[in-house]
Parts: sequence; C-alpha cells; structure tokens
Amino acid sequence: MEEKKKLNIPSSIAIIMDGNGRWAKKRGLPRNMGHREGCKTVEQIIEDCARLGVDYLTVYAFSTENWKRSEDEVSGLMQLFRYYAGRLLSRAKDNNVRVRMIGDRSRFPQDIIDAINKLEGETNDNTGMTFVMAANYGGRDEIRRAAMAFASDVKAGKQEASELTEETFSSYLDTCGVPDPDLLIRTSGELRLSNFLLWQCAYSEIVITDVLWPDFNKDVLLSCIEEFNGRKRRFGGV
Ligand code: IPE
Ligand code: IPE
Ligand code: MG
Repeated sequence: MEEKKKLNIPSSIAIIMDGNGRWAKKRGLPRNMGHREGCKTVEQIIEDCARLGVDYLTVYAFSTENWKRSEDEVSGLMQLFRYYAGRLLSRAKDNNVRVRMIGDRSRFPQDIIDAINKLEGETNDNTGMTFVMAANYGGRDEIRRAAMAFASDVKAGKQEASELTEETFSSYLDTCGVPDPDLLIRTSGELRLSNFLLWQCAYSEIVITDVLWPDFNKDVLLSCIEEFNGRKRRFGGV
C-alpha cells in the first residue's frame, strides 16, 4: 500500500472487536457464524499489524460481562477458542509473535487454560510483535484484582501503602509491561468502552469505525491509522 510509507504507525494498538452478531444477522446466519468469521479477521489482522511494525496489538475477545449471553453462544465461543488456539500458535510461530492473555483465565474450562498457558509458554521467546488477547477480561475486574494483590503485598511487608505510585500500581495489572494503547479502535460504530482497558486508555486516541468486525481488513486499519495521524495528542499540556 502506498500510504504505508507516509503513515506513522502507532506502537501500541488496542481493538474492541465488535459487530460479529450484526454481521451474521444481516446475512440471516446464527450469531456464532459471525464469531467464526471474526476469528478469521483476527488471524489476518495479527499478520498485518506485525508486518506494519506495530509493537503491541491488544484485542478484546471476551468480556467479564459476555457470560450473560445464551449458553449456546458462550459454548460456541469456547469451541472457537479451542480451535483457534492451535491455529494461533502456528501463526504466532511463523510471524515471530509473542502471545499474552489478559483477564481472569481461572473461569475457563481446564483444557482452555492449558491451551492459553501453552500459547504463552511456546511464544515467550519470540522477539516480534506482542499479541495480547483479552479473555474473561473486564477493566474493573482487573483493577480489583490488582488492588487485592497489592493489599496482600502490603500485608506481607513487601510494599508500603503510603508509597504507592501509578507506575507501581500499573505493574499489578494484567497488562504489566505492555505500553498503554496509543490508538484504540472500536468497530461497528458503538461509542463506548464496554469495560475495556479503563486504566490504560487514559490518553489513548479513540477511532470508531462503522465497519463490522468480520469486514475489518488492512485497508480499514490503515484508514484508522490515518485518522490517528491527524490527531494532536496533548496529554493535558498545551
Ligand atoms: C463482538 O461481537 C464479539 C464478542 C463480544 C464476543 P458481538 O457478538 O458483540 O456482535 P454484536 O455487537 O452483537 O453485533
Ligand atoms: C465488547 O463488546 C466486548 C468485546 C468486544 C469482547 P460487547 O458487544 O460485549 O459490548 P456492549 O454490550 O455492546 O457494550
Ligand atoms: Mg457487541
């Protein structure tokens, strides 16, 4: 792509991948078919981001609130995790991508926890892009768990409550070591965060596209980056 040369590629991108259900509904298909198409998009976008030179790509795959959906939809999503974990592992290896999972994995069935651990373990030494997948993730839940872990370290004498800095608190979050997103993209036109990276998106530039996630592709990504390039980030300064 021509634009690629002119574009300043953000180092850390986060995506709220929304609209799988609407994509399926428009075609008279079951919602889970939308999720299946959405998974294909994830595979492609990982590769596109890695090639563009993105350092960290974080995607919202399943929220702490998504358990409220029908049993059929939730079990369909679990099946997709199982199937795509294997594909993701070989894709990650081919593209030198390191995979990390954020969110509370303890609520997943054991075989999925094992697959997540394997994905992280076997890609840990890769030196290219870091792909972060948020599963059973909620920003509030993450902050709550971080607060509990910090409190327990205070109790154990490892931390001093009165000396807590933002940096130290960040290190207790699931995203420890992952830079805050420069650009946050949400697909399918909704104007909300839906509990995603509440702490980390304090100064992220937000770009919303009406494109439904299964229709998202490299061209749409580049147009989001172009919009990001036109923003003036001030971080509270003048
Ligand atoms: C996003 O698509 C995927 C998940 C939340 C798992 P949705 O399933 O939310 O799709 P819409 O919003 O109903 O179209
Ligand atoms: C956010 O999308 C969660 C994911 C993309 C995984 P939702 O579809 O769950 O968000 P709401 O319900 O529209 O806020
Ligand atoms: Mg949705």
